[in-house]
Amino acid sequence: MHFRSKLPDVGTTIFSVMSRRALEEGALNIGQGFPDYPIDPRLAEYVQAAITGGHNQYAPMEGSVELRAQIARKLHGSYGVEFDPLSEITVTCGGTEAIFDAIQTVVGAGDEAILFDPAYDVYEPAIRLAGGRAVRIALEPPRFSYDWDEVKRAVGERTRLIIINNPQNPSCTVASRADLDALAGITRDGPITVLADEVYEHVVFDGHEHASVLAHEELRERAFVAFSFGKTLHATGWRTGYCVAPAELTRELRKVHQFNTFSIVAPLQQAIATYVANCPESWQELSAFFEAKRDLFTELLRGSAFQPIKSAGTYFQLVDYGTLSQASDVEFADRLIREAKIATIPLSPFYANPPRMTLLRICLAKRDATIRAAAERLVEFSRNCLERTA
Ligand SMILES: Cc1ncc(COP(=O)(O)O)c(C=O)c1O
Repeated sequence: MHFRSKLPDVGTTIFSVMSRRALEEGALNIGQGFPDYPIDPRLAEYVQAAITGGHNQYAPMEGSVELRAQIARKLHGSYGVEFDPLSEITVTCGGTEAIFDAIQTVVGAGDEAILFDPAYDVYEPAIRLAGGRAVRIALEPPRFSYDWDEVKRAVGERTRLIIINNPQNPSCTVASRADLDALAGITRDGPITVLADEVYEHVVFDGHEHASVLAHEELRERAFVAFSFGKTLHATGWRTGYCVAPAELTRELRKVHQFNTFSIVAPLQQAIATYVANCPESWQELSAFFEAKRDLFTELLRGSAFQPIKSAGTYFQLVDYGTLSQASDVEFADRLIREAKIATIPLSPFYANPPRMTLLRICLAKRDATIRAAAERLVEFSRNCLERTA
């Protein structure tokens, strides 16, 4: 039988490729985005209690009532807006499912969805599986700023969705309120919905506030906003997130969610509801927690040929290796794995048409000891390279 793939050009993600190479070469993996430190022990206790307390059968399709009530409270605390937990909040299998469901809800055969490169890898395959076409707009390093006139020009008759990721992974930049105003101007009066991927809502540095689409009175009326407890609770394996959208959009999203995952792991929802009720400091301290790690890493690289590009948000940091080599980022990342025994993530795979750049992404969600070890290896590699060329 000749099986016709629906995604013939989609291979293994760059995260899996680099993690596999790290294993093969015995390299320290600071590429892929997952913490290497334990979760809050209270969270583990709450899961135990939820399981022994009997929360082991199907949770409600929309998400547990307690968790949705706590999410609504948390959103009010963060953005000063009341959302109805019954009709506007849906618990999903991570931010990924929220994103996938929103795309399936909006995009139909022949429709177009605009997204910005470097783009997180789930958007385009989800658009194509829905029968749509991704229109990818490249943000230019090192600033990665939006050109809203270009976006306006990219909007066509079939445009149904614009996806904005803020804070943005992997550029480590944040959108401003002015960006959101420009986006609102473009979508105003048209049939365009917005999908805001805000899984890093609590990781914004240097005293800035996260400009959430939920705090934007015009945009939130036409937006699906995706969040992740995996990021917020340092528990990426828990695969728990949620989607916030107006009732009309939520009703449609739940039609997809219902036949995709139906409902999310019951004891985890119970545990997260208890944790969100009892431990608000856990996310209120997140920016400071990662900012300290960003500053530690950049300070340790001082004097080396690796130039950090100051991260404005997310738990990632970019470094420029341009003074050491003009090799492609994929080649250079592999060289680092082999020679420095350190695995990073190159940026070009996140573009449809990558511009010339010499940038690698590293993950800050690591113990300080891991960050120190990684920086030491990079500094030593840089020293060796510079000595060889001296
Ligand atoms: C930008 C972005 N969006 C969405 C996700 C997915 O979140 P989750 O792990 O909750 O599915 C990630 C995870 O790395 C991400 O970086």
